[in-house]
Amino acid sequence: MEIIIADNAGFCFGVKRAVDMTNTELINANKNIYSLGPLIHNQQAVERFEKSGLKTVDDIKEINNSKVIIRSHGVSKNIINEINQKDLEIVDSTCPYVKSVHKRVEEYENQGYNIIIIGDSNHPEIIGINGWCNNKAFIVNSLEDAEKLPMMDKICVVSQTTNTQEKFETLCEIIKEKGNEVKIFNTICNATNLRQESCKKLSSQVDAMIIIGGYHSSNTKKLVEVSKKYCKNVYHIETSKELPLQTLSKFNKIGITAGASTPDWIIKEVVETMDNINNNEMMEAIESSFTKI
Ligand code: F3S
Repeated sequence: MEIIIADNAGFCFGVKRAVDMTNTELINANKNIYSLGPLIHNQQAVERFEKSGLKTVDDIKEINNSKVIIRSHGVSKNIINEINQKDLEIVDSTCPYVKSVHKRVEEYENQGYNIIIIGDSNHPEIIGINGWCNNKAFIVNSLEDAEKLPMMDKICVVSQTTNTQEKFETLCEIIKEKGNEVKIFNTICNATNLRQESCKKLSSQVDAMIIIGGYHSSNTKKLVEVSKKYCKNVYHIETSKELPLQTLSKFNKIGITAGASTPDWIIKEVVETMDNINNNEMMEAIESSFTKI
């Protein structure tokens, strides 16, 4: 069995930066350190951080006299104000790409544009972006959502950073007809583009694809979506324990990729488990070639 790992798999720049900043804070901690929401969308990595002393909370109200880490997804302007009012120390690991979307929607909302965000309304990144335009954005995530938009004068469109290009472009075609002046900003980040392109390339060359990443990770789910277009056998797993080994053993060529919030050690465990199948196969072949005595 041949196992191929996609280029650009695993931690993106923004997640790596958030993880590094958190590790530095934990090493030098002289007070409690909290993360507002799970630091990254990867349960196993979050558990490791919690063992090192990081506390995860869902609400600022749960934090007093401590440091709070803003994760790479970013938060709304109101949350930043709330943190400042409570006099908490902020460690802001908002990804700079997300931050530039905050600035963009704030600027255009101030100029009288209606903001449209293409993305998942329940995702923390989108909740955060909406909070920089007074929570007045139209959030669209499907053709139906886009078609239902009212006619508007001025529109500014941005995207969740982890969207697929295809979805962004398709929805923009509909949105273009909804305003007299429509400014479109493709804010899908480069890390997302690279991961999706590498995933697409590899998926079309292999018999099966393994996508490693959190079940709540938006960019991982997008890799699964992309992969399914080019490969019939796609398996989304969070850890090596979930590998469907028996099913996988019938394929000759298997591709592996991982979402932007998947740590290297999880990818390594999966690759090692897959390598073991290969070694077992080899052992069985060697054993069956032994002369029975
Ligand atoms: Fe940032 Fe893109 Fe990663 S927006 S957090 S570099 S997926």
